[in-house]
Amino acid sequence: MLTARNVTKNYSNLPILKGVDITVSKGEIVTIVGSSGAGKSTLLHILGTLDTPTTGEILLNDVNLTKLKGNALADFRNRHIGFIFQFHHLLPEFSALENVCIPGFIAGTAKNAVREKAMFLLETLGMQDRMDHKPNALSGGEQQRVAVARALINNPDVVMADEPTGNLDSRNARELHNLFFELREKFNQTFIIVTHNEELAPLSDRQLVMKDGRIISH
Ligand SMILES: Nc1ncnc2c1ncn2[C@@H]1O[C@H](COP(=O)(O)OP(=O)(O)O)[C@@H](O)[C@H]1O
Ligand SMILES: [Mg+2]
Repeated sequence: MLTARNVTKNYSNLPILKGVDITVSKGEIVTIVGSSGAGKSTLLHILGTLDTPTTGEILLNDVNLTKLKGNALADFRNRHIGFIFQFHHLLPEFSALENVCIPGFIAGTAKNAVREKAMFLLETLGMQDRMDHKPNALSGGEQQRVAVARALINNPDVVMADEPTGNLDSRNARELHNLFFELREKFNQTFIIVTHNEELAPLSDRQLVMKDGRIISH
């Protein structure tokens, strides 16, 4: 479903990614692990079209993402790729429900359909009593669940998460990982997760180990 072919990335002539090949199948939960500075975030951003490779290509369901530009790229990203970051980046002045709805409204989906889907997702994530709360009235674990629901609102082909549990205690981290597996069971959702969590990474279907800009173990 997602293929990266010989991806390299230089920052001011310094090689950061040195030829990365990845294939991810639908419904897989793949983790990317490796020490700080190995290039994990750079790779995830390139896979998610938030950054462009210096050479190489990314294909998502046979669409060559490296050929998309401008509005077409932004629109494709919003519809097909979900993101979860270490810090949730929820909009503070909007409720949990509104935060989840926003990418759906941007995609131009009918408002009622977006609201129903958002409520369904928040219920699925155990947040039915928290939908009208603003982010600062939610715990860290609850904020991350809202970020997960927001990532799923447009039925993305793949969800990319960069250290999603990095700011959570171990119990909340375990719960969030369990949720990823539940979402895979329920919706056959595909996840690519960068994580330092040594307890949880081995539970994924596949661990890609990065070192110095390369994947050294699949
Ligand atoms: N925008 C940038 N400009 C220059 N160097 C960068 C930039 N982003 C990341 N780097 C460098 O690329 C390397 C890999 O970074 P990163 O992908 O963030 O690693 P990781 O997520 O594995 O910790 C690091 O040496 C970092 O300093
Ligand atoms: Mg990183």
